[in-house]
Amino acid sequence: MSKLFAPVQLTTPQGPGLKLRNRTVLAPMCQYSVTNRDGVPHAWHLSHLGARAAGGFGLVITEAAAITAQGRISDHDAGIWNDTQTHAWAPIVDFIHSQGAAAGIQLAHAGAKASTYAWLPQAAADGKVGSISAQDGGWETTGPSETDVFGLVSPAAMSVEQIKVSIQDWADAARRADEAGFDLVQLHGAHGYLIHQFLSPLTNTRTDEYGGSYENRTRYAREVIGAVRAAWPDHKPLAIRFSGDDWVEGGWRIEDTARFAAEAYALGVTAFDLSSAGIGKYYGPTGPGFQVPLATAVKHAVPDAFVTAVGMINDASQAEQVLVMGAADGVSIGRAALKNPNWPAAAAAELGAAQDEVPFAAQYWRAHW
Ligand code: FNR
Repeated sequence: MSKLFAPVQLTTPQGPGLKLRNRTVLAPMCQYSVTNRDGVPHAWHLSHLGARAAGGFGLVITEAAAITAQGRISDHDAGIWNDTQTHAWAPIVDFIHSQGAAAGIQLAHAGAKASTYAWLPQAAADGKVGSISAQDGGWETTGPSETDVFGLVSPAAMSVEQIKVSIQDWADAARRADEAGFDLVQLHGAHGYLIHQFLSPLTNTRTDEYGGSYENRTRYAREVIGAVRAAWPDHKPLAIRFSGDDWVEGGWRIEDTARFAAEAYALGVTAFDLSSAGIGKYYGPTGPGFQVPLATAVKHAVPDAFVTAVGMINDASQAEQVLVMGAADGVSIGRAALKNPNWPAAAAAELGAAQDEVPFAAQYWRAHW
């Protein structure tokens, strides 16, 4: 059997937990498809996530779901800050389960990168890019420090009081994710959003206990993890996605990520996904599998965790190679899964995994693959 289609069981603070039928993960991808600026997922989200659950992913992760209205990247983002949203996620989770996949939700707060126009073709054609104007309903953003690094309206620096409220927001969102039936919560700690803004010296210039030293810059993330872990059931795995490296001079580096991954693991995070960048002018590598070494570095730091690689992993043999080489435990697939929702089913066929080894939900069309 291929490594990619070997089932895996994630650990939790209570011991062995969530079982995945294979090691393919649908990467979180913003859909910018909420219709009423209310953060409520609907038929589009069911169709996007449902098709990929049917397509064979072991774990399907939602787009960045905002933990507060203020934390949305755009007003077209889905959220999980109220009961209406929670109830709307539940049938989507049920459908994902019916197809044999596990359901994860990425919890997110955009911080300084909130209140931007959704990346929709018409908005771009109308010149609506960057911070949403006041007349279009833009809102005040907050982050660790004021900054112009994103070329957006600067956020207000959060008070310690606001930081404490924000930590509670993450915990409340995790509790709602449990109510909706999700199996896994992934904290969005990557791509220059709020958690990453605290981690990186490029965006965190605070002089209090939340800024300055490594110890202080990681405090917010540690407290978020602690609060979420307390709110999220012990038998369910908690995951985090990092930008493993800013790939910017003076930024957050892979050595920091590996060190922090070990601390996060000690606090109960048992799954890690390794992306990169999102703050400042990028000078990092690109090309097939370019972020895999970041996953490998974290794997060495947390050998018992489930560590996934992401980024330009586009075909089956490439994904299989990542696992055969021991570079990661699984792969997250983004754009290739937009092109082909049945990416895992196709990969299984290509790798010669027998139908009965691959527990895809029974569907007539599979007989005619
Ligand atoms: C993304 N990505 C992303 N990442 C994330 O952590 N949360 C998100 O909501 C999004 N949204 C998003 C939307 C779209 C349309 C794309 C294409 C990407 C990044 C994504 O998860 C992934 O890391 C990258 O796309 C790289 O992987 P691939 O596409 O090369 O497999």
